[in-house]
Amino acid sequence: MTTKNEEFQKLREQCLECKNCGLCSTRTNVVFGVGVDNAEVMFIGEGPGENEDLQGEPFVGRGGQLLDKMLAAVDLDRHKNIYIANIVKCRPPKNRDPLPEEQEQCIKWLRKQFAVLRPKIIVCLGRIAAAKIIKPDIKIMKEHGMFFEKGGVLMMPILHPAALLRNPNNKPAAFEDFLKLRDKIREICDHTYDDQGTGQ
Ligand code: URA
Repeated sequence: MTTKNEEFQKLREQCLECKNCGLCSTRTNVVFGVGVDNAEVMFIGEGPGENEDLQGEPFVGRGGQLLDKMLAAVDLDRHKNIYIANIVKCRPPKNRDPLPEEQEQCIKWLRKQFAVLRPKIIVCLGRIAAAKIIKPDIKIMKEHGMFFEKGGVLMMPILHPAALLRNPNNKPAAFEDFLKLRDKIREICDHTYDDQGTGQ
């Protein structure tokens, strides 16, 4: 029997070879994802920026540092108890929005990651991810922090860390969303907070 870890390894190897869309010709690295393979909470961003393309890991630039801080405030950590991936695995040139056809091609990988992980909660970082995963007409400023149920999985859109860097006035509202997420994890997750002493 193959373990989740082996399945993820195999998927990663296949994804690193992907040439399903034009973004493969300008990428430095495929940014497959980072996290633990028993994560109950999956974060989904839009696509790699320059730093992510260079390092091969999601959310490692300034936005990523802010994300890590907000995660840490609710005892979440990409190396301990969550998984982070993007809608598209390769950087769109000049950080443009990923095109609908690029998203459509690449979401196949995300679906496979989802199938291996089977998370209980999905958090969409920003409008593009939320529109693709939750509903096309999402109003991110109005609906961030709300939970949407789809196929037995709870999904929450939150403000994108890059947007928070541009508009720090929204940081308190974003932090409220992380508190709601923490409460929901305490309610429905089995082991996310196991080692942290915050799950009770
Ligand atoms: N923005 C995203 O949406 N994803 C990343 O990995 C980095 C920045």
